Formats: sequence, structure tokens, C-alpha cells
Amino acid sequence: MEIKTVGVIGCGLMGSGIAEVCARAGYDTLVREVDEELLATGMQRVRSSMGTAVERGKLSADDRDAALGRLRGTVRLEEMADRDLVIEAVIENLAEKRQVFAALDAICPPHAILASNTSSIPIIEMASATGRPDRVLGVHFMNPVPVIRLIELVRAITTSEQTLATARAFGESLGKRVIVAQDRAGFIVNMLLVPYLLEAIRMYENGFASREDIDLAMTLGTNHPMGPLTLLDYVGVDTTYYIANILFDEFRQPHYAPPPLLKQMVTAGFHGRKTGRGFYNYAAGERPPQ
Ligand code: 3HC
Repeated sequence: MEIKTVGVIGCGLMGSGIAEVCARAGYDTLVREVDEELLATGMQRVRSSMGTAVERGKLSADDRDAALGRLRGTVRLEEMADRDLVIEAVIENLAEKRQVFAALDAICPPHAILASNTSSIPIIEMASATGRPDRVLGVHFMNPVPVIRLIELVRAITTSEQTLATARAFGESLGKRVIVAQDRAGFIVNMLLVPYLLEAIRMYENGFASREDIDLAMTLGTNHPMGPLTLLDYVGVDTTYYIANILFDEFRQPHYAPPPLLKQMVTAGFHGRKTGRGFYNYAAGERPPQ
């Protein structure tokens, strides 16, 4: 099956990045947010990211204009009725995702593939909310979506070969390398990444080392582009907390349990760069060590 029209549900950090790469790759793209204000913020994020791509010589001004011409926003889920592929990128909450999948199942044409950008929730949980579990799979993008060259596909026990093959061709058409994981909480990337991030929080929480030294250990010591506490602030302290809870619920192993400091930071609203404060206080001018 050939994908021509793409829908993206949610125009937050991930949804706007996904909409951007789809429009840039030539797809007729429709992105949906719950209200006009959030939609305007998300669309502005896309324009600004494409502007950066032009400044950096990654995209010509003509191609940017053509891509923006292929991208449209809406607040009406019903407009997904003509989409071949819809990618859900709403908050990491199972009840919300199941509701979106059930609604999309009723709205979208029978041939449409419904995908989730969940970072950790098993795909069968969403597939089972639809009448087309063979056409549901995980299509997991990484942040920042236009820059990171990987897509992790997740195959539920119900996902058909044809759905997987179509999603693989779609992912490659976006210029990404595609990997495939079985349907287990955390898949490949977050199963490896999140315990590492949690261990960094435990080190800091226990006073074992300063936040700067923990970050420098990994940037200078192992050439990671960001240290773990900086990366936590980048992907979201709250998002990491949700993922850790999902991993712990699934496997019941202590190294997936969110450390108390992580929970406290979420409660305090220290969600990382997006709120101005996480492990570093960006609003007060603090920056991770270089
Ligand atoms: N479109 C296209 N290209 C862009 C762009 C855009 N909007 N913005 C920047 N770029 C390009 C730049 O031109 C540059 O390309 P070059 O290397 O060829 O010159 C490259 O992207 C890097 O850009 P910058 O120079 O602006 O940025 P930095 O070098 O400071 O890197 C970073 C920033 C890419 C965020 C880097 O620090 C990094 O990779 N950090 C780690 C991010 C990471 O691990 N993400 C995955 C998190 S896990 C996840 O998302 C899963 C989820 O489920 C939690």
C-alpha cells in the first residue's frame, strides 16, 4: 500500500516534528490539536524549525515554502477521514491514547494505518481499542525529530506483515534508518536509555557527584552529545517519569523505579527546558557544562 496522505494527532514537541518531516518528505500532512491556541503554537514551532533548517543550509527556501504548502492544521479529528496513515503523538497516558485510537478507528477509512508515537506503552493496548488491530503499530520518532535519523517500528502481536512493510517504506521515505522492535514496554531505545537516565538521577540524588560532573563524564568521557541530566531536561523530566512508571509496572524491577527526586521534580513543575527549570535552572541563566 502506498501512503499519500498523513495525519498527525498532537502538535506538541513530537507531533510538530513529525508533521514537519512528513511535509518535508512530500506528504500531504494534516496535524490536529485540541484548540486553536495550541495549534498556533505548534505550527509556529514547525515554521521556526524549518527556518533553522534553511539557515543551516539543510533546506532551500523554495522547498520550505513547498513543505509549508503541504501542511495544514485543524482542531477537528473528523478531518482525518481521508488519511492513509495517522500517527498519534498525544500525552503518554494510556486512557487518552485508547480514546484517540477508538475515535480514529471510527473516522478513518478502512485501509488506513493507525500508528502511535508512544515512547513506552505496549502497542497492543492501543490496537485493542480499534476494530483493525492488524493495521496498528508503533512508529517511534526521537527528539529532535528533524535531526535524529532513527525511527523505531514496534510490531504488536496483531500487526500484519503488510502494515509493517508499508511503515518501513514510509519511514525510509522520510530519510530515516528504520529498526524494528517487539511489543514490550520501552521497546529498544527507552529500555536502554531510561535505566541509564534513572541511574544518573540516583547518583545526583545520593550526592555521589555534582550534576556537572555526571554530565561531563558522559559528554567528554564517552562523546555523548549531551550528558544524562541535560538530556533529561531536553526530553522532559515529566516524560521520563511517565516512561519509568510504565517500565516499572511492566517488569517490576528496581532499576526501572523512578527515584523520589524525579517524582518531586515533576510535582514541583521542574519539567526541564520547556518549563525553564529541570536539573538546571535555565530561567535563572544556568546552562549545562560544555
Ligand atoms: N532541521 C534540519 N536540521 C537541523 C535542524 C532542523 N530544524 N536544526 C538543526 N539541524 C542540524 C544542524 O544543521 C546540525 O547539522 P550538522 O551536524 O550537519 O552541522 C545538526 O542538526 C545539529 O544541530 P545544532 O548544531 O544546532 O545542535 P547541536 O550540535 O548542539 O546538537 C542535538 C543538538 C542534535 C539536540 C544534540 O545535542 C543531540 O543529538 N542530543 C541528544 C538528543 C537525543 O539523545 N535525542 C533522543 C532522545 S530519546 C527520545 O527522543 C525518545 C523519547 O521516547 C524519550
